[in-house]
Amino acid sequence: MEYGKFPAYRPRRMRNGELARNFIRETVISADDFIYPLFVKPGEGKRDEIPSMPGVFQVSLDNLMDEINELLDCGVHYVLLFGIPAEKDEIGSSAWDEHGVVQEACRIIRAQAPEMYIITDVCMCEYTSHGHCGKLDEHGYVMNDETLKLLANEAVSQAAAGAHMVAPSDMMDGRIQFMRRALDDAGYQNVPIMSYSTKYASGFYGPFRDAADSTPAFGDRRAYQMDPANVEEGVREAFYDIAEGADVVMVKPALPYLDVLQRVKSETKFPTVAYNVSGEYSMVKAAAAKGWIDEKRVVLELLTSIKRAGADMIITYHAKEAARWLAEG
Ligand code: PBG
Repeated sequence: MEYGKFPAYRPRRMRNGELARNFIRETVISADDFIYPLFVKPGEGKRDEIPSMPGVFQVSLDNLMDEINELLDCGVHYVLLFGIPAEKDEIGSSAWDEHGVVQEACRIIRAQAPEMYIITDVCMCEYTSHGHCGKLDEHGYVMNDETLKLLANEAVSQAAAGAHMVAPSDMMDGRIQFMRRALDDAGYQNVPIMSYSTKYASGFYGPFRDAADSTPAFGDRRAYQMDPANVEEGVREAFYDIAEGADVVMVKPALPYLDVLQRVKSETKFPTVAYNVSGEYSMVKAAAAKGWIDEKRVVLELLTSIKRAGADMIITYHAKEAARWLAEG
């Protein structure tokens, strides 16, 4: 090889073996980065696998601790709880029931696994008979301001039951400020809000809606979720929520929106979470089941890409398996 005036720079030198690669590795994922979404429901002895999400279960409260202990064994310390209530009605009133399924789940986890950090989903769509994220007017249109009160009630009741953090996923305008005030007035000044600030109207939520029984009975969520074509608006939405008092912002889904994630993180400089949603998970699972991809390799690559784009934490259904793979090296 001909050397010029300067020593030839050969990046490949640092790619030769794992120990060399370690010197230049910029992004490292670990179990501490993962938040596991968990679906809880009433009843006994239930552990129902969601058909479109192999390996993900809806569990009844008596089986909850098995799931929590499994997560802790893998090194995952964050859960995001979604409730599937026994009763649904027009306004989703079981969402703020003191003995609702999520509230009971918080008490159980707090008592039996104090090392687990509990985040609760705040939304109406799992609790309303029509499956929309709020109260409807006579035309079937979600009423923004009327819904704020319901969401605040839900958040306060979850905090009272022991949630460490609340995560509003509804996308109503002004909800963060309203909820912050309600939490403060109720004495929960120390409960942070993780806002689904930048949430797109996405086809990738399909399997989740099976999992949470929350498919809208009519219409869709485009009136309150964002247009996939917009990135400036996504950054703006994050800033609005920060101004209203959000402690953590979010981009959802993750993989089709890595550019948005990168911008939200670099421009807000706020803690930013990415939600690697149900459809993203199901696609990987389906291809892996067919033997078309190497699941371990693909999952770790995807999670690394989400962190590299700017996520401080990742909400992912892959959390258990990924944590195990990372531990085995
Ligand atoms: C509730 C909510 C949804 C998801 C999280 N919270 C569904 C939706 O907005 O339609 C989707 C999560 C996933 O697909 O994994 N509003």
